Amino acid sequence: MSERRQSPFRFETAVLLLAVLTLTAACGWSGWDTKMTTVIPKSDFGKLTHGVFMLISWWTLWIFILVEAALLFAVWRFRERPGAPIPKQIHGHTALEISWTVAFAVILLIIGIPTIRVIFKTQEAPAATALRVDVTGRQWWWEFKYPALNVATANEAHIPVGQTIAFHLNGPDVIHSFWVPQLGGKRDVIPGRVNRLVLTPDTPGEYIGQCAEYCGTSHANMRFRVIVHSKEDFERWVAGQQAPAAEPKEPLAQKGKELFGQSACVGCHTIAGISAGVLGPNLTHFGSRKTFAGGMMPSTAENLVTWIENPGGMKAGVLMPNLGMKGEQSQALAAYLLSLK
Ligand code: CUA
Repeated sequence: MSERRQSPFRFETAVLLLAVLTLTAACGWSGWDTKMTTVIPKSDFGKLTHGVFMLISWWTLWIFILVEAALLFAVWRFRERPGAPIPKQIHGHTALEISWTVAFAVILLIIGIPTIRVIFKTQEAPAATALRVDVTGRQWWWEFKYPALNVATANEAHIPVGQTIAFHLNGPDVIHSFWVPQLGGKRDVIPGRVNRLVLTPDTPGEYIGQCAEYCGTSHANMRFRVIVHSKEDFERWVAGQQAPAAEPKEPLAQKGKELFGQSACVGCHTIAGISAGVLGPNLTHFGSRKTFAGGMMPSTAENLVTWIENPGGMKAGVLMPNLGMKGEQSQALAAYLLSLK
């Protein structure tokens, strides 16, 4: 072959450059700041693990660039040329092999030591001053209890900013996983043992959580929220949750209260002063929650009526039975539940 060949690199280089530019433009740093991000952490735990993630990412990036550059250089420098002799053939190079083995061992240590430190740090026992929150993962919703405060709620955990929180994770049925990406950490909820997740949130806000271990039909619907309050707002929330169940004022809600007391609802749900069921969420302050059904549905009268009349239609596999409530019955129950602020 005598004619000059087109360089094969022009097309690939252009595609690569375009891909990098597109990614850079699409993912400006603010683009990462989404509800499920792990790269803008809002707690000490999140920052620790993010630090390890970034350390590993940067080292991986530089090694990738170095290896690819060496590869491209070798391909270009020793490419086949018409009439050129075959380059000198070599096999092995002791000094080179020792040096890159040592270099990569050192890089592994640089990555490994901080990783192990973070693993131990994030497994430490919580300080005595930590606020304990007992988390129960169930098919398919989350229960949050505050033993020191005598508060029980569902699907929405409220915690104060700057305070160390010790989540104690347990569950009665199958394995779930407690994960609030922005607060960092993801820890399995395993029947028969108590796992712990200790973190100190540093920014008030509402953070989305999601069960991160497949746990059956409605795994994807097993959501929750963690609301990080200022100290004052948290105290206000606790006071509200510790108050007795509100007495309904509207006639429809009063009818709902009566109906609740007479129906099978009482077998599964607690409303302080009325019932003591433990299979479903505690409803004493249901009206103070923004969502229900594993954090899936906004707490509106319309959604509640649909839910009461056919729970399985909203959430596949749900354990709450259809009690055959219709029309004014379900409307009355919904009104009553929403009145429980
Ligand atoms: Cu619980 Cu997936």
